[in-house]
Amino acid sequence: MIFGDKIMTPRLRMRRLVEGDLPLFISWSNSDIAHGEYLTPDRIDSHNGREIITSEACWQEQNRVFLIELKDAGPIGTLHYWLRPERRSCAVMAVKIADPQQRNKGYGTEAQKYLIIHLFLRQKAQSVEMYTDINNRSQQRCLAKLGFELLETLNYDDHQVKRVGHLFRMDAVNFLNNPVYQYHYE
Ligand SMILES: CC(C)(COP(=O)(O)OP(=O)(O)OC[C@H]1O[C@@H](n2cnc3c(N)ncnc32)[C@H](O)[C@@H]1OP(=O)(O)O)[C@@H](O)C(=O)NCCC(=O)NCCS
Repeated sequence: MIFGDKIMTPRLRMRRLVEGDLPLFISWSNSDIAHGEYLTPDRIDSHNGREIITSEACWQEQNRVFLIELKDAGPIGTLHYWLRPERRSCAVMAVKIADPQQRNKGYGTEAQKYLIIHLFLRQKAQSVEMYTDINNRSQQRCLAKLGFELLETLNYDDHQVKRVGHLFRMDAVNFLNNPVYQYHYE
């Protein structure tokens, strides 16, 4: 499943961004459509985008941005995780299926599932957390399918936009006991 820098899933390849991905990365970053109703565009410019892609800033054990690609049809989004600086055993994830036509096909769930396996088995995470806007039913459905539990409802800041959201968590015991992570039907 994990070969070198990539995470392979039944239908997806998740890999490090390279310089050739810069135009797409910048265009998604500045697009309301790519972010959907419940995420605010981070509006990265080309200079900063090149810096992010070419430096090690987004490709370290404690912080990685993956490009999500369909194995047979190219990029559809990004998946980011970081380890909490104050609690490194806890990973936080953020996902974006940027092409709206590719949503609701199971790719968001599949991408998150295999990153979660990587985080618990390779990174030895003890918990994985996700924030989601309170109205983001689609992401909350993904998290339910993946075995997350609602931890708390809180106000958070999403690139200067105030949101009310849920914080979800899965811990290592739930991960090990959940059949989703042992059987792969996709
Ligand atoms: C949220 C997101 C990651 C989900 O990925 P996806 O590939 O569309 O999700 P999946 O197809 O794996 O699963 C979506 C589930 O939500 C369900 N769903 C979709 N819209 C829904 C709605 N309005 N209400 C309830 N359920 C809904 C789907 O039926 C599906 O569940 P099912 O498999 O039981 O039928 C994706 O839509 C996305 O990137 N959106 C824009 C950015 C974003 O919101 N990111 C998440 C930030 S926390």
